[in-house]
Amino acid sequence: MFGTKKEISKNKAWSKLASHYKKMRDVEMREMFAKDPQRAERYCINLDAMTVDYSKNRINDHTLAYLLTLARACKLPEKIDAMFKGERINQTENRAVLHVALRNRENSPICIDGKNVMPEINAVLAKIKKFSEDVRYGKFVGHTGKKLVNIVNIGIGGSDLGPKMAVEALRKYWAKDINCYFISNIDGTACNEVLNKVNPEETLFIVCSKTFTTIETLTNARTCRKWLIDALGEHAVSKHFVAVSTNAKEVAKFGIDTENMFEFWDFVGGRYSMWSAIGLIIAIAVGMDNFEKMLEGAHEMDMHFKYTELSKNIPVILAMLSIWYNDFFNMRSAAVIPYDQYLGYLPAYLQQLVMESNGKFISNEGEYIKCSTSLVVFGGAGTDVQHSFFQMMHQGMTIIPCDIIVPAISHNEVGEHHEILLANALAQGEALMKGKTVKEAYDEMRRAGKPKEEAKRLKKYKSFPGNRPSNTILFKKIDPYTLGMLVAMYEHKTFVEGVIWDIDSFDQMGVELGKQMALSILPELQSNASGIRHDASTGNLVKMIKRMRK
Ligand code: F6P
Repeated sequence: MFGTKKEISKNKAWSKLASHYKKMRDVEMREMFAKDPQRAERYCINLDAMTVDYSKNRINDHTLAYLLTLARACKLPEKIDAMFKGERINQTENRAVLHVALRNRENSPICIDGKNVMPEINAVLAKIKKFSEDVRYGKFVGHTGKKLVNIVNIGIGGSDLGPKMAVEALRKYWAKDINCYFISNIDGTACNEVLNKVNPEETLFIVCSKTFTTIETLTNARTCRKWLIDALGEHAVSKHFVAVSTNAKEVAKFGIDTENMFEFWDFVGGRYSMWSAIGLIIAIAVGMDNFEKMLEGAHEMDMHFKYTELSKNIPVILAMLSIWYNDFFNMRSAAVIPYDQYLGYLPAYLQQLVMESNGKFISNEGEYIKCSTSLVVFGGAGTDVQHSFFQMMHQGMTIIPCDIIVPAISHNEVGEHHEILLANALAQGEALMKGKTVKEAYDEMRRAGKPKEEAKRLKKYKSFPGNRPSNTILFKKIDPYTLGMLVAMYEHKTFVEGVIWDIDSFDQMGVELGKQMALSILPELQSNASGIRHDASTGNLVKMIKRMRK
């Protein structure tokens, strides 16, 4: 839509927003709050289990109306429908996109080319249930009869970040005797550090790879397999290795019995796969009932996304706000700050979800895109990050809109810790929005007894520009259900952004070139082979590394 064929400026909804931006760019949120006592209530969406307050944004009713007009002009409702109907919206790979089917708790038929995918999904869910319970209750045991208490997930990208984030988020729900580990990086340190902590007799490896061709995962899996065989012999493999993949042929080739394989499908993107058997480690750690609650939470968000009108639709509103800042205010990054230590891996998970989905430059029409696409996403758990990058959030020259994620109740209500944490979470949103004028800074110092000259000298340093946007996403508690809602909310938000930019959010061709080049450099590092033509810098670096490793 925004390729060279139809220039952005010719799109009416877009140009309406561009001129509206000129009116809004200097409007202060402080003033909008002062003038409108209903603002906080109006720009807030409440579901039973969550509240999204988006009132601290540089918007008014016109902004929202124009943003939603843009969404409609980009055929968002039709595209949401197409996704849920199993149409092949991943057009570059000619695939349907049906992570929503994985958590379709109503079990209503969802078809691809007339074939209902639900029976297959339900069969794998039943297999996950049986296997996870057998491991948890000691029915499926290791080669020497010992209970499998160390569960090691070997995978990378979507086969790692989702399960790792969810397992950590739900740590309080883990079975008492089970420990979870993750090996993703090809760096031998990742493998060694885990293998040094576990013993072969009690360890189950889950090799997760959609394609089962990913070099990091296969190399790590081979190393772990050798470690196991060295300790327990070849016969132990079937009791200690299972695979999750779409590629049975490669699983068998690797030496894992396909009986021990959990299937998923090409209509599930890697970064959208934690709801499938890729989430096996989640089910083992927290139990199938909790895994299912996570699916139910995601399903609630799916239904909200599918059926709620755009103006009250959480993923739609969040996505359109992010388009507003990115494409009109030129704010190119976004921070996600969970005030819950258990959500520490959420920013890393979202980096893949958002940046691998939408970090693209060619539209669905095959044209060069003329607007800015994926934001740079980063973040970390509050309050830690208040003491690192928040200086820039408050006083830097770059404005970074942020999501502040807040559970009202902690899993660890220790003394007054959680109230202090909550106070900080709310304070950050308020401070970012209100700021502090130079005069306020001066008066404050004078009231505190600072001499006039000193207060004058420091007043600008101690002022805060404010007017910096944030959304507050409030839950009662982070539990399996609300985690499901939260993750599904971000998945759909990402999808909506892709629709506006006319991007295929479900392929990831941008990761291929580096992989290809690594494969051509590898033999050079391993032997005296040369002859591959590099740029001068890379060629020199290859030589220097070889010299250092001699
Ligand atoms: O980084 C590219 C990518 O294909 C991701 O999209 C994916 O999540 C990851 O590699 C792992 O792929 P696989 O699950 O096939 O091993």
